Amino acid sequence: MNTASIRSKFQELYGAEGILFTSPGRINLIGEHTDYNGAFVFPGAVDKAMVAEIRLNGTNRVRAYALDLGEHAEFGLNEEDAPQQAWARYIFGVCREIQKRGKKITGFDTVFAGDVPLGAGMSSSAALESTFAFALNDLLSLGIDKFELAKIGQATEHNYIGVKCGIMDQFASVFGKEGHLIRLDCKSLEYEYFPFDPKSKGYRLLLVDSVVKHELASSAYNKRRESCERAVAAIAKRHPEVKFLRDASMAMLNEVRSEITEEDYKRAEYVIGEVDRVLAVCEALGRGDYDTVGKKMYETHHGMSKLYEVSCEELDFLNDLAKELGVTGSRVMGGGFGGCTINLLKEELHDSFVDEVRRRYQAKYGHAPKFYDVVISDGSRRL
Ligand code: GLA
Repeated sequence: MNTASIRSKFQELYGAEGILFTSPGRINLIGEHTDYNGAFVFPGAVDKAMVAEIRLNGTNRVRAYALDLGEHAEFGLNEEDAPQQAWARYIFGVCREIQKRGKKITGFDTVFAGDVPLGAGMSSSAALESTFAFALNDLLSLGIDKFELAKIGQATEHNYIGVKCGIMDQFASVFGKEGHLIRLDCKSLEYEYFPFDPKSKGYRLLLVDSVVKHELASSAYNKRRESCERAVAAIAKRHPEVKFLRDASMAMLNEVRSEITEEDYKRAEYVIGEVDRVLAVCEALGRGDYDTVGKKMYETHHGMSKLYEVSCEELDFLNDLAKELGVTGSRVMGGGFGGCTINLLKEELHDSFVDEVRRRYQAKYGHAPKFYDVVISDGSRRL
């Protein structure tokens, strides 16, 4: 990202110079809606990020400028000081969550911008939260560990945005490592870096953005989570050891089928299948077996579309098209309801696939999709 415009705006607004911090968006190869079910995810950070210049200002107020929107916000650090603008609430939430952990923070000035596409399922909001959590921890020497920084971002979503998300996005943003995907066990919080270099095997990872904006806060996401929790509650009556869907089997789910709604059953069926798929993909990747990786991605799409119902017409169209055009693996990525598909495809297919998808999507929906080549990059850092 070009940081010169951030620098010059900062100078113009505050007449000084701050320090630059950045945190990336993420992709997720597989393991969707598994994080809040205590299971595995397999994300990596990308080369699209938020960048913020920050300087402590010696007061107890925050002055923030969102360069991409051309908007200012100014707010205090107490609970009643919550700003109006949605983007400022993320920064405010991070400040509050840090304080709730017993840490003292002071006011600061900031200008920030980013190139993580908004509403595309690439976690622009986690990138924003992680940038400020990481920066304040660094500038004020708060001594907060990296997991807690991720949890501060997650708690900001829960308590200041209203999305009851899991830990995946903030974790990937903070812990990202160039050339590696990270398998995280969302129950134990153990994680492992997996080298990921599809190019060396003749493959590419490509995102196709449907440009349908997803709206996680629109409660559909929270409803999915509630379905999972109801299924767990029913199963736990007979199997008290089951705390998350990750701990449940299809046999256990079938025992309670008549006690839960058909909708909750379908949601849980998807999650139980997805838990196994992540492990199968990690194993296949270790063997360089990209065909199996791809097959599992298609299975995930099918589950997300038909059982979890977080796809949409445009994403299903993109998935069908990928299959028809010989893409090895494709599926809706992230929370769903819009945003991107993630596609694993042979190098030689890349250009013709992009041309054909652009042409056919445009013909059907009257506007072109966007394409992003995935470059797996480092997590939160000072620039
Ligand atoms: C969103 C949430 C994550 C995760 C994904 C789906 O990105 O923020 O916690 O649940 O959806 O896998």
